Amino acid sequence: MDSAEWIWRSGRLQPWGEATIHVNAVGHASVAAVFEGIKAYLAEDGENLLLFRLEDHLDRLYASARICRVEIPWTRDELTAAIVELMTANKASDDTYIRPWAFPEGVIREQMVPAGVRCEVAIDSWPFQSGFKREGCRAGVSSWLRISDAITPPRVKAFSNYHNGRLALMEARENGHDWPILLNDQHKVSEGPGACIAMVRDGVVVTPALSSGVLESVTRSTALTLLAEEGYEVEERTVDRTELYLADELFFLGTAWEVLPITTVDGLQVGKGVAGPVTEHLYELYFSLVRGRSGRHLSWLTPVPVKAHG
Ligand SMILES: Cc1ncc(COP(=O)(O)O)c(C=O)c1O
Repeated sequence: MDSAEWIWRSGRLQPWGEATIHVNAVGHASVAAVFEGIKAYLAEDGENLLLFRLEDHLDRLYASARICRVEIPWTRDELTAAIVELMTANKASDDTYIRPWAFPEGVIREQMVPAGVRCEVAIDSWPFQSGFKREGCRAGVSSWLRISDAITPPRVKAFSNYHNGRLALMEARENGHDWPILLNDQHKVSEGPGACIAMVRDGVVVTPALSSGVLESVTRSTALTLLAEEGYEVEERTVDRTELYLADELFFLGTAWEVLPITTVDGLQVGKGVAGPVTEHLYELYFSLVRGRSGRHLSWLTPVPVKAHG
């Protein structure tokens, strides 16, 4: 894997190769680790990278840490400065993915990592090209149910939650799909393993409510805002599995997946089997926003000059 030159770790930049921990720290420490996935997009003028909704991602990082009772020993301003420092050190000059994560410090002997244990924060970044995958993907409803708020809250962005998504993904691939769609403990639609889901039915854009066992996705909230501004009717509600089979359009929404059309679900073609008009429109709205082209929601964009290090 291509690695960046630098990682930010607990207050300073560290060369990639030196950013190690003891092998004993890997397993148990990961149980309590929380993280974020943030993107920075190259602006239209090529002079800035625009961190997208950084404040909202940091809010979610602290929210995840609060629920898991792990303490992040860095303030929001310090983490913001750290991300900018890291991007500059790594000479980021194109679309970039940034992953901050907090994990218990040192070697943890207990599986039940105690509350309030000191945490380290590390931040990694790597190039991540974006683009509309118009051909979309094939999805299948998983026999694995989504973790639930009463068991392992999906509202928390924790590495351990991805065990559930991975099981569903392995099954989906085995069955010839690209990605799984998970139902929640009520057997209603929740989300994909790394993205939320939305459908268009009779002109209305519908996505499972935040109480459906989903991550409080930044992309989902962005899409709902942009579509409502364009006059689309949007609904957040309980979604039945069979509604997926009747949808005119279906798509995943996430920082990494962006707007990803779903062309078949359980082998049934969705709409015309290609990205539908609302999906295309949303993609346009999303990309002109994140690249600063639309001039809208400028408070969601944190510019990091490319020239300073380019
Ligand atoms: C399980 C899950 N759901 C939804 C999302 C989408 O969230 P966001 O739009 O904030 O990236 C992600 C991606 O982080 C995810 O891992």
